[in-house]
Amino acid sequence: AEGGNAEAGKTKSATCAACHGADGNSVNPEWPKLAGQHPSYILKQLMNFKHDERVNPSMTPMAKPLSDADMADLAAYFSSQVKKAGEADQTKVALGEQIYKGGNNATGVAACAACHGPNGAGNPAANFPALNGQHVAYTKLQLHAFRKGERANDAGKMMRNIAAGMTDAEIEAVAEYIAGL
Ligand code: HEM
Ligand code: HEM
Repeated sequence: AEGGNAEAGKTKSATCAACHGADGNSVNPEWPKLAGQHPSYILKQLMNFKHDERVNPSMTPMAKPLSDADMADLAAYFSSQVKKAGEADQTKVALGEQIYKGGNNATGVAACAACHGPNGAGNPAANFPALNGQHVAYTKLQLHAFRKGERANDAGKMMRNIAAGMTDAEIEAVAEYIAGL
C-alpha cells in the first residue's frame, strides 16, 4: 500500500480510533468508515487535509503533524480492516438505484456506477473511492459539500459537477442505496 506498513499504522492509529473505530467502523454516522477503503484514496485525503485542500475542523489538526510515512502506514492499516455492512431505508432505494446505475439524463447527472463500480467497490487504479456500506449521513454530507463547493479536492471537479445537478431527494436516495450496497 504505497509502501505503507499496516503494523506500524496500527500503532499510530490510537487517536484515530476514537472517531473512526478501533476496527475502522465508526459509530457516529457523520464520521466515515475507513475499513477496507483503498490505501491510495486514504493517503490522498490525508495529504489534502494536511495541505488545506480539504478542510474539516476534526481532521485538519489530526493530519497536520503526520509525515508521509505516517500517512502511508495509516492508509495501509485502515485499508486492511474489514468494513461492516450498512443498512438502507428500503423505501428510498428505488430512486437511489436509478441514479446510481443510470444517473439523470435530464439534469446531466452521470451514473455513479461508471466510476464507483456496480457494487460500489470503487477503482483503486483511478483513485475512485469505495462507497459501499458507508453511513448515510456521511455520504449525504459529502454530496452536499461537493454541491456547495465546500469540498473541492476532486480533480477536474468530477464530483462537484455531478452533485451540482442533484436534488436533495436524489442525494438522500442515492446515499441510502449506497449504504445497502
Ligand atoms: C475523515 C483519517 C482522526 C473525524 C477522514 C478521512 C480519513 C481520515 C482518511 C477521509 C475519509 C473519506 O474521505 O472517506 C483519519 C486518521 C486519523 C483520524 C488517519 C488519525 C490520525 C480523526 C478524529 C476525528 C475524525 C480523531 C474526530 C475528532 C473525521 C471526520 C471526517 C473524517 C468528521 C469527515 C470529514 C468531512 O466531513 O469532510 N478521516 N482520521 N478523524 N474524520 Fe478522520
Ligand atoms: C468521491 C458519490 C459519481 C468520481 C465521491 C464521494 C461520494 C461520491 C460520496 C466521497 C467519498 C468519501 O468521502 O469517502 C458519488 C455519487 C455519484 C458519483 C452518488 C453519482 C451520482 C461519480 C463519477 C465519477 C466520480 C461519475 C467519475 C467521473 C469520484 C472521485 C472521488 C469521488 C474521483 C474522489 C474525490 C477525491 O479525491 O476526494 N463520490 N459519485 N464519482 N467520486 Fe463520486
